[in-house]
Amino acid sequence: MNITAHTRPLGLIGYPVTHSKSPEMLNEVCRILGIPAAYLAYPVKPGDLEEAVKGMRALNFIGFNVTIPHKVAIMPYLDELDDTAKEIGAVNTVVNKDGKLIGYNTDGVGYLRSLQEETAVSLQDKTVTILGAGGAARAVSITLAKAGVKEIFIANRTQQKAEKLAESLCIFTRARSVSLSEAQGVIAKSDLLVNTTSIGMSPHTDQTPISADFLHAGLLVSDLIYRPKDTKLLTSAKQMGAQTHGGLGMLLYQAAVAVEHWFGKPAPVAQMRAILEKEA
Ligand code: ATR
Repeated sequence: MNITAHTRPLGLIGYPVTHSKSPEMLNEVCRILGIPAAYLAYPVKPGDLEEAVKGMRALNFIGFNVTIPHKVAIMPYLDELDDTAKEIGAVNTVVNKDGKLIGYNTDGVGYLRSLQEETAVSLQDKTVTILGAGGAARAVSITLAKAGVKEIFIANRTQQKAEKLAESLCIFTRARSVSLSEAQGVIAKSDLLVNTTSIGMSPHTDQTPISADFLHAGLLVSDLIYRPKDTKLLTSAKQMGAQTHGGLGMLLYQAAVAVEHWFGKPAPVAQMRAILEKEA
């Protein structure tokens, strides 16, 4: 990359950020699109968030990505939030539009694009069970609710959180929380099962969020975990004859949508995927 006095900053803030593949992927995107920008990963401690945002504003960043633990905390320091970020209640992408910092959330739409590209599923009138009720569950379930699914069940270890999420989905579609013991029954009548918990993530690859007995051949099983690519849940689902969808695509498309917000151009997804696949 040719860095000159015209090169503008882009980056990721989070804590920690050393595991991130975004710098490699986004610098390659800038090179391919001919954008004079450099993307770095900035470890920002929670107490330093406000100062970091002020600094990025002063330094005229093109924009930046936001990851754990700042996705919710950053919202008061931005000038505007788009509707999706407001609905999800979290920001993962910020665009500097003529000095105004605008917050977006590309996680849900990234998930949806990945699901549609990789499985060609039609979501109209489908029944969905979501495992987990954290930030990722919120982004995915709101997006699916708005995309026309008929009914969403939320199963979570802490049922109170599942109830709260189900309540907030009710403005878009039918939704209710279920206990873990009820999960088998609702999965039996579901078309799509999405694991948004971290159960099964490397290095705990022998773990799975639900028993393989709950799965059936009529399911599309989607796991947001991308390391390993084939989680125990997805392996069991394949053995059961179910269709599967891994988490790498969400990682890819949430970044692709961020690229489109920053540069107003389609993202080079094939090259971005090659970088993520090499690293995963
Ligand atoms: P993210 O932003 O990735 O969604 P999060 O907001 O911390 O992360 O949410 C993590 C989700 O995984 C939660 O639903 C959590 O369940 P609780 O609400 O009960 O904490 C779920 N989760 C994580 N580890 C889990 C485990 N070992 N067993 C069951 N659920 C787990």
